[in-house]
Amino acid sequence: MVKIAIMGYGTVGSGVYDIIKADNFAYEAMNPIEIKYILDIRDFPDHKEKEIFTKDFNVILNDDEIYCVVEAMGGLNPAYEFTKSLLLAGKNVVTSNKELVATHGPELLRIAKDKNVNYLFEASVGGGIPIIKPLCSSLKANKIKKIAGILNGTTNFILTEMVEEGKSFSDALKMAQVNGYAERNPAADIEGHDACRKIAILASLAWGEYIDYKDIPTDGITNITLEDVDAASKLGYSVKLIGYADKRDGLFIWVSPMLVRKSCPLSGVNGVFNAILVDGNYLGTSMFYGQGAGKFATASAMVADVIESVRHINAKKAYIEWQVTEKSSVLPVSESENRYFVRTKEKQDRIEELFGKVSVSSINSENVFVTDVMKEKDFEDKAKTLGVISKIRVLDA
Ligand code: HSE
Repeated sequence: MVKIAIMGYGTVGSGVYDIIKADNFAYEAMNPIEIKYILDIRDFPDHKEKEIFTKDFNVILNDDEIYCVVEAMGGLNPAYEFTKSLLLAGKNVVTSNKELVATHGPELLRIAKDKNVNYLFEASVGGGIPIIKPLCSSLKANKIKKIAGILNGTTNFILTEMVEEGKSFSDALKMAQVNGYAERNPAADIEGHDACRKIAILASLAWGEYIDYKDIPTDGITNITLEDVDAASKLGYSVKLIGYADKRDGLFIWVSPMLVRKSCPLSGVNGVFNAILVDGNYLGTSMFYGQGAGKFATASAMVADVIESVRHINAKKAYIEWQVTEKSSVLPVSESENRYFVRTKEKQDRIEELFGKVSVSSINSENVFVTDVMKEKDFEDKAKTLGVISKIRVLDA
């Protein structure tokens, strides 16, 4: 019997509890798993195992029987202090906490390595979708060229509900909260910060350097209107919130709404589903797809990490390498080259004067077009003089 603890009994922590209570994974982990403690500041007087709840972190830290701890608290503090203490005490830690991993991942991984324990965070990106392990292990023979993903379930759910069900933004957000998809503060979802931490983690692992998420230009979906979505659709595109990273001499990386051609597999990713396209030099493009948020989807990835750490109880296997480089290689987004979708009231002549011969469609008494590939700096200079109603980058994938 291997004993574990869960820290945080919210949506995801309770999902981990339910999954392990339904099956102790004796076969998969080669050892039955038992939950000895649950740490939470709240009381759960009606819980069928109320005796295993504690409010005292030290009970877990100081119990030599605890082999692995599931951190489902979220936020930086006290999750950082708790995780560091647990790793230093030689306990394995499994987390879904993207904010913590994006901020302190390299340091926590180094401590884990020194202590010969695992710090595993499959659930921190893409909820239940396997992406961290494929990136760090299965795709290792490839040089990764590009990653483009729908990385936030809440915003994808909101966009889908708005487009397909005609729901208002706020009603769709409320539904995402009720379903347990949204962060405690949903601004992290809709303003793109959650997706920003996730693309920071993926880019750091793909290219073996530390990408500080604070260096990543980030826009959420708050400025996207039904008129944008409608006009984009008439041109043959969907609008998705994309975490984008493209490695050349340096790294272009951002989170922003982007137009995705309807023939691109990302276009059909709807609701709470996430998908990540990874472009490798040998494999070409592969897509990782599945439920990106929610209780059991996310908890299943955490339980798999618990099984991984228990299974290798006598032979630690660290497949995650994450270097800290002196200087981030992030290039200014103004130097990136993209195509851009534009809605304007300006006449075709003026559009062509600025952007050359482009195909202009008249939609709802506006002119709508997609530019040729051009440097973002040049696009912005021209767009300033045009009277733009909205402008969105186009994903060429
Ligand atoms: N709030 C996050 C999302 C949860 O909607 O994707 C999963 O990381």
